[in-house]
Amino acid sequence: MSKVIYPGTFDPFTLGHLNILEKACNIFDEVVLAVAEYTGKESLFNLQERYELCKKATEHIPNVIVSTFRGLFVDYAKNQNCKIMIRGMRAVSDFEYEFSLAITNKKLNPEIETIFLVPSLKYMYLSSSTVRQLAELNGPLEDYVPACVADAMRKKYQG
Ligand code: COA
Repeated sequence: MSKVIYPGTFDPFTLGHLNILEKACNIFDEVVLAVAEYTGKESLFNLQERYELCKKATEHIPNVIVSTFRGLFVDYAKNQNCKIMIRGMRAVSDFEYEFSLAITNKKLNPEIETIFLVPSLKYMYLSSSTVRQLAELNGPLEDYVPACVADAMRKKYQG
């Protein structure tokens, strides 16, 4: 059985992430959507909230398991008995960051492989920070995030 992990901070989980996840689910038997505790920046949603939103947004996909992890990805992957990481590659601007992440993981564990999937064109320039800004300024969110995420963002910003 083929199993891969799609990790991210998912703050929040966007339709772009969903697009990558659905592509991975069409290729592999099981995809673990792994929500990282460590975000490296101040996050909008805490780990539990990010986990719950990912779970709700993906409940229609049978071969997804939503999970959380603390610490290094390579350690989590080992615990999961999985050596393949999925990441989205949206544009050339993603390359350096994604390449550095893939190489660092490979240094930590040479058995880890990263597979990059390219999102559909309409999600190419979507990012979580753009969506956060839209939500903060009370803009429309429906084209960018799943409905449950849009609701949660509105609650967060507009109360
Ligand atoms: N569609 C839309 N947006 C996307 C996207 C897609 N397909 N792919 C990435 N993004 C955007 C996100 O919206 C986010 O945007 P922002 O910077 O504006 O907030 C950004 O790209 C990255 O977010 P995300 O996809 O959630 O991933 P990440 O880069 O936050 O996640 C981890 C990185 C969690 C995989 C990585 O840091 C990790 O493995 N951490 C654990 C610690 C570790 O082992 N580190 C590596 C060795 S030091």
